[in-house]
Amino acid sequence: MAKIEIPAAGKSFECAADDTILRAALRSGLGAPYECNTGSCGNCQFELLEGEVISLFPDAPGLNERMRQRGRRLGCQSQPLTDCKIKVPMRDDYKARILPARTGGTLTATHDITHDIREFRFRLDTPNPLLPGQYGLIGADGVNGARAYSFCNVTDTGGEWHFQIKRMPGGACSAALFDRLKPGGRVSLDGPYGNAYLREDAPRDLLCIAGGSGLSPMIAIARAFAVSEKLAGRALHFVYGGRSMRDLAGEDMLRELPGFGARIHYHAALSAPEAEWTGRTGFVHDAAKDIAGGDLSAYEIYYAGPPPMTEAVTKMAIACKAPAAQLHYDRFY
Ligand SMILES: Cc1cc2nc3c(=O)[nH]c(=O)nc-3n(C[C@H](O)[C@H](O)[C@H](O)COP(=O)(O)OP(=O)(O)OC[C@H]3O[C@@H](n4cnc5c(N)ncnc54)[C@H](O)[C@@H]3O)c2cc1C
Ligand code: FES
Repeated sequence: MAKIEIPAAGKSFECAADDTILRAALRSGLGAPYECNTGSCGNCQFELLEGEVISLFPDAPGLNERMRQRGRRLGCQSQPLTDCKIKVPMRDDYKARILPARTGGTLTATHDITHDIREFRFRLDTPNPLLPGQYGLIGADGVNGARAYSFCNVTDTGGEWHFQIKRMPGGACSAALFDRLKPGGRVSLDGPYGNAYLREDAPRDLLCIAGGSGLSPMIAIARAFAVSEKLAGRALHFVYGGRSMRDLAGEDMLRELPGFGARIHYHAALSAPEAEWTGRTGFVHDAAKDIAGGDLSAYEIYYAGPPPMTEAVTKMAIACKAPAAQLHYDRFY
């Protein structure tokens, strides 16, 4: 165990030798900033004032060489070699509502959702609950580093975590999950993480926008919305974007929910559809704008997908008068 001190905040916490500084801070209940947890966004940067750390992912895109030279490190990829003193801007809104924990998971079932999205269900050795919209880290055999995957299930006990995962061409973890992991197979799990969870106290209608692999957390939010007493008088518009008809997903899962067609509505938009497609065409952010009537100020907006998609949604939402506090998203690096 290393002791990590944040002198400016008057805080300290313990970090196990095989943990990372960000994750140990969150496990201790401290509000350390982050987003992706996988070395891409750079939000977890801290300044190393004293001590030594090692990076699990030295070429992580979230930090450039200039920042490294200035003593900056990525909290999500730094393991302590000694006690350390660090400088990081702590923020209460990053405090975990459910403390993330590490455990093992056994694959209990899989099923295909589209030609390249599959649901994977894991039973946890030690259950840990989750909030709809959050994600967990999966460590698969033979893959360097854990990958972030959003939950699609709603669970109070956290006995099972379910994920809808897209096969990425040439991707190390998605290949391990799709091609090598069989029911009964084991992975390491860590979570829950993430701040794009359902706000049941926000008295607004919901717009859930999913681009491709962004399906999973939007399904979790819709499932929780359907049974939420606090949101009983509200409507949810689910907007799914893919390229062609074989990418279409999500409608069957929403149809099973109470309120489908009355207050839960599914919309799909395809950006490169076949000639026989008669539905919406174009990008998902344009479809969402159209569905909301060009003014998003009255919506709580949740979205997930590849960074170009999330950036397009953010730009559109702000231009359509949505306050930043009503936007909740994860960029799937
Ligand atoms: C918050 C969040 C939620 C996500 N949710 C989903 C989801 O629900 N469904 C889904 O299909 N995808 C999701 N993703 C994307 C997913 O995490 C992977 O990026 C994607 O599956 C490709 O991984 P790969 O290993 O197959 O490809 P690769 O190309 O092998 O890996 C790419 C990703 O892994 C990271 N990485 C590469 N090497 C290392 C290393 N040594 N250590 C740590 N990280 C490394 C990269 O920064 C990049 O993010 C999510 C991403 C984020 C950030
Ligand atoms: S949280 Fe560490 S780089 Fe994104």
